[in-house]
Amino acid sequence: MTSLYVVDTLAEGGQIGAEEIVEAAVRCQRVEGDFVLGVSTGSTPGSTWRALAGRLGESSVDTGRIQAFALDEYLDIEADHPESYRAVVRRQITLPLGLNPEKVRCPGDDGRDLQAPQRYEQAIRDAGGIDLQVLGIGRNGHIAFNEPGSSLASRCRVAALAEQTRQDNSRFFSSQEEVPRYCITQGIGTIMQARQLLLIAYGTAKAEALAAALEGPITAAVPASAIQLHPDVVVVADRSAASLLVHSANYSALRL
Ligand code: F6R
Repeated sequence: MTSLYVVDTLAEGGQIGAEEIVEAAVRCQRVEGDFVLGVSTGSTPGSTWRALAGRLGESSVDTGRIQAFALDEYLDIEADHPESYRAVVRRQITLPLGLNPEKVRCPGDDGRDLQAPQRYEQAIRDAGGIDLQVLGIGRNGHIAFNEPGSSLASRCRVAALAEQTRQDNSRFFSSQEEVPRYCITQGIGTIMQARQLLLIAYGTAKAEALAAALEGPITAAVPASAIQLHPDVVVVADRSAASLLVHSANYSALRL
């Protein structure tokens, strides 16, 4: 079941995303235990993290009772590299939101041995599963670093980045050569077990991927299309990213 918000600006999208996260956190913290937030890196969720930093302070959410799990992490990069996802999560999420660093996890942060993906999967299970997972989408339809061809049942694992993803992410590095080739990523099966998904997409470059994900066939060729089978998906898109959707009037809720 998909709800779609079409927004005019990233700031508006950020406010809506932040509100969804706060509502989920309040719901979860009303019952015992932590709110478990799945976090995405990349450019897309930036305005959501900024808005959330403001909203959390005004809400009844106890930031000490938030656990966070990143979607993915580059493998062939030093952990203290400023573009390692561990560093990005610390800079954009842990510090501004005032989260307890001990409750924020990235794949491979406890060692990059062969068992690291399984340990990460287990850590998510031990936390009680992810309550709300924030997702961006790649131009090739990837979610996390599940590139086209990834099994829709895949779990946390070591994977290779598609060449298009390496080109897209080269803007964060000083040269194309420096862009990592491998990662540890949550699998599509892992993501699908989150209780709620918040997929954010901005810009014309994401329009084809978003339309394929929400309205095309469910196929490993478009990993994000798996979310059509998820019971609780909120999509926040700007007008450019939503421009190729043709059936959105029939979604369970359309919020303009
Ligand atoms: C990041 C991630 C990726 C990005 C996607 C979009 O943790 O898992 O799937 O969400 O590549 O990246 P941006 O937002 O930079 O366009």
